[in-house]
Order: sequence, then C-alpha cells, then structure tokens
Amino acid sequence: ELGVYNHFMQKEIHEQPRAVADTAEVFLDGGFIPENFGKNAPQVFQEIDSIKILACGTSYYSALTSKYWLESIAKIPTDVEIASEYRYRDVIANPKQLIITISQSGETLDTMEALKFAQSLGHKHSLSICNVMESALPRNSELVLYTRAGAEIGVASTKAFTTQLVVLFGLAVTLGKMRGLVSDEKLASYTQELRELSGSIQHALNLEPQIAAWAQKFAQKSSALFLGRGIHYPIALEGALKLKEITYIHAEAYPAGELKHGPLALVDENMPIVVIAPHDGLLDKVKANMQEVSARGGELFVFTDLDSDYTSDSDTVHVIRTPRHVGTLSPIVHTIPVQLLSYHAALARGTDVDKPRNLAKSVTVE
Ligand code: M6R
Repeated sequence: ELGVYNHFMQKEIHEQPRAVADTAEVFLDGGFIPENFGKNAPQVFQEIDSIKILACGTSYYSALTSKYWLESIAKIPTDVEIASEYRYRDVIANPKQLIITISQSGETLDTMEALKFAQSLGHKHSLSICNVMESALPRNSELVLYTRAGAEIGVASTKAFTTQLVVLFGLAVTLGKMRGLVSDEKLASYTQELRELSGSIQHALNLEPQIAAWAQKFAQKSSALFLGRGIHYPIALEGALKLKEITYIHAEAYPAGELKHGPLALVDENMPIVVIAPHDGLLDKVKANMQEVSARGGELFVFTDLDSDYTSDSDTVHVIRTPRHVGTLSPIVHTIPVQLLSYHAALARGTDVDKPRNLAKSVTVE
C-alpha cells in the first residue's frame, strides 16, 4: 500500500496535488453553485445571515483559515470555535446562522456533540465538510460536501487539511456569487487559481530536499516558534501542531504582530523561528517582525514566494522561496513546506511518524 514511500504521512503529503484536484472538480466542472452542497442548499444559503464553524485540531485550523475567505469574498460574518469548548458554554443561538462542522473522520466525538448541542439550541441549518462517506457528522447534517482526499492513515492530518481548504474556498466563492459580490472577472480569476493549485502544490513539493536540510537542524532543538500574519497565521498554527505531534518538539505559533506582547522573551540563538511570509498585503509588517527576532539573536527560517523581495542578509536568516506567487490560495500552498519540515525532522529524530505516541487517528472519546 505504501508503494515507493516509507510512511503513510509521506505518501499522503505527496498525494496532495491529486487530492486537491479531485476535490476541486465539483467547482471546476459544475461551477460555484449552491447545489454542490446539497439540494436544499440554494434555499439555506439564501436564509442564513452568518456562519459558525466547529471543529478540532487540524480541522479547526482549516476553519480559521476559511474565516478570511468567507468574510472577504462572501462578506458573511464567520465565527470559528473549538468544538469541545462550544458545547460547554452558554451560547446565544441564532437560527439564521449556518453551523458548519469540519472533520476528516466524521466521527470526532467533540465535534459530533457540538453539532447536537447547536441543534438542541434551535439551529436548523448545518453543513458537514468531511472526508469519510456516511460517517456520523454528514449523517446528522442537513448539507454535506465531501473532501476527496482518499483514505488518510497517518495520524498527522495532511491531505485532509488542504482538501478541506479547497471546499471552504469553494463555499466562500459560492456564497459571494449568490450575494452578487463576485464579478465575472473575479470569478474567472478564482477559477483559474483553483485550476493552477495542483501545479503550485507540486512546485512546493519539489522543495523537499532544501526543507529536509533545514529539518536536520530542527531535529536537535527542543522548542520552536512559528509566525504568520493574516490568512497565513492559521498555517503557522498548523505547522506548530504538526511539529509537536510527530517530533515531540515543543512548538507554538503566534501572529507575528503579537511577538512583542510576550513571546519575544523566549527568543535567543537556540530558538528556531519559522515564518510563513509570502508576498501579501502584510509582508512589510512581517519583515519588521522578523527584524525584531534577528535583533535578539533568533535564527529565522523563512518561507516566502516568487513575488516577494525578501532575501537573507545574514547567516542566521535562511530563506526558501516557493517558485510561484499564489494569490488567494496561498495558505494552501504554504502548508506543504511546514508538513515536509515536520516529516523530515521526525525522520531525523527517529520517532514513529505515522503513529505518534499517545494519539489516535480518530478521537471518539471525550
Ligand atoms: O477527524 P477530525 O478532522 O475531526 O480530527 C480532528 C483532530 O483530532 C485531528 O485533526 C488532529 O488534530 C490531527 N491528528 C492533527 O494532525
């Protein structure tokens, strides 16, 4: 089953160009139409005034990423919450709010219970974005759109995350279009971006040898920081989770602007700092944040892209440039380098990549 690969995680990382293309097909062939999400979707999408997304772990980070798209493309207020927190607090329910659950397995107990809780409060409309057909979450949701990642076996989620992002982007464009917010020109450019996504991911995968070389350094560290801003902040969170999960190296992610409010105190020459810094509206701000790190002796490992003019000016600033500039879908492409970094650091440390200690693939207990 592993074919030429040594681990399922490695195989699943490399399957992403295919997984993403398969998942995008529904939008590329059928258009960004509400019916993709179920037969009631046209009516449901007309009725809703806001969205709440409930999920855990990596699926929670895809939700956080999608908030940027849903609010900028569809202008629909979007709240994202960790499922296990939501179900245990006093919630002000809004029947016009669409509850979205995101889950690879569709069986995560915390997410399932959060959905039931929302329904018990009077939320009528729910959408499940899930990878496993006919699992508990889609069975209990009004609408569903499956990711087409194929079976994900490695405990560390990889292709499920990037395919979730494809569906969530498709949802944002669909809702934006229904609300008359997406011009024909914009629609054509979103479609084009989605078509080019697999190729952009393949380009990022081709950086593996350089990333593996960085990973050798990480393998010797006991702690790491991940930084990003805006829509790339959730990708920093995802990078830190992957590193913790499979290498057991302590890692934390921060929005780069938050550094000076505390975490900067951790920075010294022993603390590697990974920065997701593609060319976007916040790059200049991120550069200033990186300067703050360098001034304290921190070693920077920066993922940037073709359009950015960021270059290294010292031995303690390392730069890997993804060979394309990707606009709206940039967070999907910049997930690949952080997955590869963790994978190779885990190899160097000799940990059990596919079955990290203390974890299960599907968490069906509280
Ligand atoms: O199956 P789900 O997407 O609901 O699982 C949620 C989390 O348990 C899962 O993403 C977990 O965080 C992964 N092991 C992360 O790699």
